[in-house]
Amino acid sequence: MRSPAARTLTPVTRPVLSVIGCGYLGAVHATAMADLGYEVIGVDVDEAKIKQLAEGTAPFYEPGLDELLQRVEGTGRLQFTTSFETAAERADVHFLCVGTPQRADSNAADLTYVDAALDTLARLLTRPTLVVGKSTVPVGTAERLAARLAELAPVGAAARLAWNPEFLREGFAVQDTLAPDRLVVGVSDPQDAEVLRNVYEPVLAKGTPWIVTDLATAQLVKSAANAFLATKISFINAMAELCEASGADVVALADAIGHDPRIGRRFLQAGLGFGGGCLPKDIRGFMACADELGVQEALGFLREVDDINLRRRARALAQARALVGGDLAGKVVTVLGAAFKPDSDDIRDSPALDVAHMLAREGAVVRVTDPKALDNARRVVSDVELVADPVQACRDADLVLHLTEWRDYRALDPVALKAVVRRPRILDGRNALELAAWAAAGWEVAALGRPTVGGTPQPTVS
Ligand code: UGA
Repeated sequence: MRSPAARTLTPVTRPVLSVIGCGYLGAVHATAMADLGYEVIGVDVDEAKIKQLAEGTAPFYEPGLDELLQRVEGTGRLQFTTSFETAAERADVHFLCVGTPQRADSNAADLTYVDAALDTLARLLTRPTLVVGKSTVPVGTAERLAARLAELAPVGAAARLAWNPEFLREGFAVQDTLAPDRLVVGVSDPQDAEVLRNVYEPVLAKGTPWIVTDLATAQLVKSAANAFLATKISFINAMAELCEASGADVVALADAIGHDPRIGRRFLQAGLGFGGGCLPKDIRGFMACADELGVQEALGFLREVDDINLRRRARALAQARALVGGDLAGKVVTVLGAAFKPDSDDIRDSPALDVAHMLAREGAVVRVTDPKALDNARRVVSDVELVADPVQACRDADLVLHLTEWRDYRALDPVALKAVVRRPRILDGRNALELAAWAAAGWEVAALGRPTVGGTPQPTVS
């Protein structure tokens, strides 16, 4: 029975927290909050994932997470379960951290998991509670979920909803969670913000900026941040296209404009462009959202941002083709990197793997190597060979492509590697190698957005 008169949650001294969805975001959030001293219940519908987390091992590669999990395990504050009942019974504040992938049939975000998690939890809430959304959603979702929460929860309107977007980067997730550069909370009642301020007190004590907004603004902040970051990357990659056409050097250009503090050098790394489970689907979801709001022109530029980004992959392929003399069929091509970025095993929309598939489609014999992402790649890839050791992967290669900038690849010795390959030719698709050293070792080198060192003319992408 619903009791609409129940009081809402007020800041409590040591609230018990639940984190629903234990993927890249939720597993780190749950562990970090337990490390900050809270009792935390991590919930996921995936039993294998829960079992692994309960044993103190992260189900994915994230630097520092295993160590943090093991540190927290000893305290007994962190529990993982598939039971929403346990979470609803014990926790005062529930963080919703489930995924919002791109829908298969459109650009829009798929809200199935968010809706399912909220519905399941809501029906179990019998006392004042704050549910805090962290997933990236189209603006308007939180307002809809807040109404549904109050409607489904036995406690009625005392089940409140706030939105607290997450800005963590894979590869830096632990650090970004324990010491974020800002905390943003969207609420419809200032009292809900106070509950969250109390929860985040250990983080705020480090001087973290605290920004309270309405629900709509908080949802938009996240979409806007990712749209800006994607735009910055595509801007510099558009400059790379100009550099390629004019013989200029995009790395020097980025350094020079980056000195202007209004521009800044970060996220101006030109190369193969962005991938992953966030930026590509978030800009598309944002465009779909603008469309629904009737303001599609406002985000028309994001279509261009997406197109510039995808053109980089075509450009890398064209350069690879030119480097082997115009025909990739039968050529052995080694791809250094499968993850969408270094320090991650995430292969969702990986630019490196995408290029590997394109090479295979042109008949190349493709070998892909990666320090962490091969297990994930093995589950979905069948047209390329996966080789753990980078030197073995380069054996008899006609061409090496550096497509994910792992530290390990910067440490490769160009002299030693030259003895292993059939033809010493390398394309630096991330502008992260010391090309002069490779050229000095006798390699024919090429890069995206930079004049070649070693004499290969830059091909034109048709
Ligand atoms: C991104 C945002 O950076 C986070 O703030 C946000 O929380 C997250 O999405 C999310 O929505 O959950 P992430 O996807 O982990 O984080 O990775 P980024 O570091 O943003 O890199 C994204 C892609 O851009 C990678 O493929 C990377 O190689 C590429 N990139 C990045 C460039 O091509 N050039 C750059 O200068 C920077």
